[in-house]
Amino acid sequence: MSFMQINDLKVHYPIRGGFFNTIVDNVYAVDGISMEFEKGKAYGLVGESGCGKSTTGKSIIGLEKISAGSIIYEGENVTNKRRDRTSAYNRDIQMIFQDSHSSMNPRKRVQDILAEPIRNFLKLTPQEESRRISELLAIVGMPEDAKLKYPHEFSGGQKQRLGIARAIATNPKLIIADEPVSALDLSVQAQVLNFMKDIQDEYGLSYLFISHDLGVVKHMCDYISIMYKGRFVESGTKYDIYENPQHIYTKRLLSAIPDITPNGREDRKLERIEVERNYQVEHKQYFDENGRVYNLSPISDTHFVAATSSALKGGN
Ligand SMILES: Nc1ncnc2c1ncn2[C@@H]1O[C@H](COP(=O)(O)OP(=O)(O)OP(=O)(O)O)[C@@H](O)[C@H]1O
Ligand SMILES: [Mg+2]
Repeated sequence: MSFMQINDLKVHYPIRGGFFNTIVDNVYAVDGISMEFEKGKAYGLVGESGCGKSTTGKSIIGLEKISAGSIIYEGENVTNKRRDRTSAYNRDIQMIFQDSHSSMNPRKRVQDILAEPIRNFLKLTPQEESRRISELLAIVGMPEDAKLKYPHEFSGGQKQRLGIARAIATNPKLIIADEPVSALDLSVQAQVLNFMKDIQDEYGLSYLFISHDLGVVKHMCDYISIMYKGRFVESGTKYDIYENPQHIYTKRLLSAIPDITPNGREDRKLERIEVERNYQVEHKQYFDENGRVYNLSPISDTHFVAATSSALKGGN
């Protein structure tokens, strides 16, 4: 059973212009997506830069205004309802931001940064609060003396860990992790990812994992949605997406993963050329006359693809 459902979510930014600064058009940053979240599962959101991934995450936690659609959390409609700072929804849904540096107040010490969510949501005495902060630092593998330091005194990987500590401070149910490792060295990336997996198992956390890196998403996620221009082109289990991709855009993304094994490199190059050719030829089956992605249709219990019915029949 899912604890949260997102139904046909839309976030449109008005573009203003002209003499009277009126709204002349909209940026359709998120344009009708639906998802649901189950306890302990990790969901991936993949797509090229500017397709609306961060906007999706930010609108779910209430940092962007939702233009249409709804978010239902444990049976309650919480769409655009983040004003109450102490609500269960705000406590249970946390986010790790794409840019951990600018998401932390540079004038605050780590202990105050971590105390903020604790004060908002948990009623602790000063001693309990201090103990909880030490505990959080220990969970993310940071020393006790980090408490008195400022964000700029840490490396990128350490700051990302502090971002994780802040996100887990209130024992949330869902963490939205927006490119949590893309700014880090490969070795540190693996460390942080494995660490995120460990705490997921330990606390039964769910993740919405946002990334443009298909390798990272494969490693982390049970379900994956592929996003293009504010819409999902395909959605399914890890197996559906990696072993049985149907949408031409998904195939193109997968074929663009750089390969490091020399065997079969020539074959894969031919495959890439074929995918690229199909992308041009079959475009109409996957995008309408305005270039908009169709609505998703189910092709199995778990696998959904946005394409015309003839493309779906032909593709199987
Ligand atoms: N405040 C805003 N006002 C107007 N347009 C915006 C605003 N924020 C984002 N956009 C536009 O919305 C679209 C989606 O942006 P978003 O940041 O969600 O992309 P993204 O998928 O997270 O990209 P990246 O991988 O580069 O982080 C982009 O076209 C962007 O220009
Ligand atoms: Mg982003």
